[in-house]
Amino acid sequence: MTSPDFIRRDWETVHGYPMVYAFALNWERIEQFQCRPEDVWIITYPKSGTTWVSEIMDLIKSDGSVEKQEKAPIGHRIPMMELAAPGIITAGTDLLEKMPSPRFVKSHLPISLLPKNFWECNCKIIYVARNAKDVAVSYYNFDRMNKFHPEPGTFAEYLEKFMSGNVAYGSWHEHVTSWWEKKKDHPILYLFYEDIKEDPKREIRKVMQFLGKKLDEATLDRIVQHTSFENMKDNLMVNYKSLPTTLMDHNISPFMRKGIAGDWKNYFTVAQNEIFDADYEKKMSGTTLKFRTEI
Ligand code: A3P
Repeated sequence: MTSPDFIRRDWETVHGYPMVYAFALNWERIEQFQCRPEDVWIITYPKSGTTWVSEIMDLIKSDGSVEKQEKAPIGHRIPMMELAAPGIITAGTDLLEKMPSPRFVKSHLPISLLPKNFWECNCKIIYVARNAKDVAVSYYNFDRMNKFHPEPGTFAEYLEKFMSGNVAYGSWHEHVTSWWEKKKDHPILYLFYEDIKEDPKREIRKVMQFLGKKLDEATLDRIVQHTSFENMKDNLMVNYKSLPTTLMDHNISPFMRKGIAGDWKNYFTVAQNEIFDADYEKKMSGTTLKFRTEI
């Protein structure tokens, strides 16, 4: 199969969830994927700061040394399990199978789509959540530039799809709340994008403790510096600019776009905001989970 077969294809449904067409092929590879108890997973709804926290985790693992990070793109250091595009990109499951332990694994999957042996492994999970409005804006711009996704249409059209969960990986509301509940009976460090933005060192320290590492203050400061938006934006190993423009076109919208909390205010009309808030209230009524839409 050649690349045009995957380009701008509509979502494929996987067990009721809209999924990137190229990832949905041969889904058995996900169901049969072998987790290892010593794996640490980073799980997020897309556009919530996955790349940011992945780079933080990897730097903590290597005691703040950037040597390895400068040599390999983030997708090779922390492979995304469900990523696949036969003939174009090596499947995440293939990269992970060959990786020595302890592995870091990235995924956007909702709870019910995880591999069959996932819960038996009892792996540590770092979950990163970001407020729905900024995720919607970031995801809209990502769909514009990422050719594996269908065209998002206008922002007004996109917002309808986002609210109804007709975007890759399904509903934001379901994702963040079900993972929040899972925290009660599973080792999950649940982080918020807005908190990392507010005080990166405080949140990086939480990640360090969760990973069972001890780093000195100078090393933590170095990690804060290395993972600032300004530095990551220009870092070819994390900004996805090494991918061909036929797959991701950064001229349409860069992957490292703005990196702020509250950009939704530049996109939502007053009417859209009211409709979004009313829908949000209904869908989030049964949870204790709270988000900040600005900091
Ligand atoms: P924006 O589109 O709002 O700029 P993910 O990695 O989950 O796909 O998330 C991508 C979002 O995280 C993008 O948001 C990107 O700019 C932002 N991001 C990536 N690295 C960041 C950093 N170091 N600081 C703040 N935001 C960052």
